[in-house]
Amino acid sequence: MNPSLILGIETSCDDTCAALVTEQGEVRSNVVASQGLIHEKYGGVVPEIASRRHLELLDAVMADALEGAGATLEDVDRIAVTRGPGLIGALLVGVAEAKALAAARGLPLTPVDHLHGHVVAGTLGPDAVEAPYLCLVASGGHTFIARVEEPSSYTVLGSTLDDAAGEAFDKGARILGLGYPGGPAIQKAAENGDPEAFDFPRSYPGELDFSFSGLKTSLLYKVRDGAGPVEDLAASYQRAIVDALATRLGQAARREGIDRLAIGGGVAANAELRERLEGAAIPPFELCTDNAAMIAGAARFLPAVEYPGYLDLDASARIHA
Ligand code: KG4
Ligand code: ZN
Repeated sequence: MNPSLILGIETSCDDTCAALVTEQGEVRSNVVASQGLIHEKYGGVVPEIASRRHLELLDAVMADALEGAGATLEDVDRIAVTRGPGLIGALLVGVAEAKALAAARGLPLTPVDHLHGHVVAGTLGPDAVEAPYLCLVASGGHTFIARVEEPSSYTVLGSTLDDAAGEAFDKGARILGLGYPGGPAIQKAAENGDPEAFDFPRSYPGELDFSFSGLKTSLLYKVRDGAGPVEDLAASYQRAIVDALATRLGQAARREGIDRLAIGGGVAANAELRERLEGAAIPPFELCTDNAAMIAGAARFLPAVEYPGYLDLDASARIHA
């Protein structure tokens, strides 16, 4: 018998995503249609445009995911969908599609917390991390360290008090005139810069929390004062963010007595961070940035709601499922 197949759908922000994952955690396909270029000219995601594009793209993205897995809808045993947090209009497109698909076939459906997806992305694929482990999630909207005892849930040990790490990259890139999204832009400029040219502040509030807003202000002042070159500023700024993330993760590991580490979220794609956290289970790039495989992956550890129990399921901009 073929292993059970989960179809994952993720539309919480500006990427339209669908994926097929087995109950055993094998990623059969993982398709992402990025809207990045559309939003680039606005310097950030425009929610209304994101929702419309999801509507236009989702059917084709799901068809791609099915084809990539060599499957049809007949082979799907369960649907998983991101319920929140994210942009409400964008989430609604995915949730409505998931409900319609599941209801039409009488399939069970599992609503998934987007952040739970990032936390357990490392449990997918051949080099899967095993619980208990600590996971640093650093994305455009969130930065926190989670303790995972069982992959069905997680406990937040510390989180950012202001900007997310990805936001710090994005805002920094804007200050430096490097474009959007800022993470890859800063990383590229930093390749030719001196990470010790500028001494940016590192902030360690609370026990395991983060703060990046002072860092951003410090960059703004330096640029106003005419500091440069931009490569040195980018390299030093990136070093400060990576330092804070790596230091906190190290402290969390010691405090909790757990040495299995994972990272997730778009910032986990950062080359300097990956180098600093050598030894940590770092999922492949395509599982770090927003994707639907991590949503189907998280659903493996969550209950399936049988038809018609999910018909009144709603997207939620804030909820942690
Ligand atoms: O998880 P993600 O794809 O979307 C959400 O925010 O949920 O993360 C996007 C964030 C952006 O802020 C982007 O600048 C950052 O991840 N990012 C990076 C890199 N690639 C993406 N930050 C640092 N270095 C990178 N190479
Ligand atoms: Zn995300």
